[in-house]
Amino acid sequence: MTEEKTQENRKSIGVFDSGVGGLTVFRELMNCLPMERLIYFGDTARVPYGSKSRETVTRYSRQIVRFLRTRDVKAIVVACNTASAMALDEIEEEASLPCIGVVKPGARAAAAATGNNKIGVIGTEATIHSGIYERFISEIAPEAEIFGKACPLFVPLAEEGLWEDPVTEEIARRYLSDLLDTGIDTLIMGCTHYPLLKKTIGRVLGEEVTLVNPAFETARALKEELSGRGLINDEPIRMNENAFTFFVSDEADKFRHFANSILPLGILGARKVDIERY
Ligand code: DGL
Repeated sequence: MTEEKTQENRKSIGVFDSGVGGLTVFRELMNCLPMERLIYFGDTARVPYGSKSRETVTRYSRQIVRFLRTRDVKAIVVACNTASAMALDEIEEEASLPCIGVVKPGARAAAAATGNNKIGVIGTEATIHSGIYERFISEIAPEAEIFGKACPLFVPLAEEGLWEDPVTEEIARRYLSDLLDTGIDTLIMGCTHYPLLKKTIGRVLGEEVTLVNPAFETARALKEELSGRGLINDEPIRMNENAFTFFVSDEADKFRHFANSILPLGILGARKVDIERY
């Protein structure tokens, strides 16, 4: 491999989300691509994206891409389902780098998993109203029926750490009962936070429903994409090097606390960025 190629492969992968939820994607990337350097940006000052307009989410996403580009990343992962649903084309245009969102890998996995062609999707209001999962799934599996349901309360419940609380289970029953009546055999957890509630969601839906985690699927899809482009880093990270860097637009301490509750390592802190400057 040429020295230039090695330099390129050593560069970090930029990962961004509207806040802390994208850490569920980050931890899958850590597992799946253990030799990669990762830079995370959480837009904690402007979260949530799920109740905002396409125009606003696109503007925010473009700013974050411009920030990540200043860190010289080799690829960008749009960990946020809402940003992937509403702004992926604009993000790709802004980045001029390989970009991967979480929606397509999730849609692909669900189309492969369903046996009866009835697939449920849960996500933020913006993601569900965008109809993006339906669009992608119908390209791969035109005969599939898709049933969407926005579950906005799952985000604060996950952030409060109430992953297996009776309150969460009660809310899950209310949100998911209509979906259960449709006879779905597969459910896409189409929001960064929902994998944290997986046990509760699984208990409510029963064992017959397969849960698809787009975070997991995205890590695998990114690995494939980087391999295809010859961009995988295969040099071990140096002993004293910090392979993971975290940036936020606000509340760095709160972010650190949450990150330490879900990542398999202790992070020392996150740096605050004035994202409106980008
Ligand atoms: N990260 C968002 C998503 O995956 C959820 C939180 C928000 O609404 O910003 O859609």
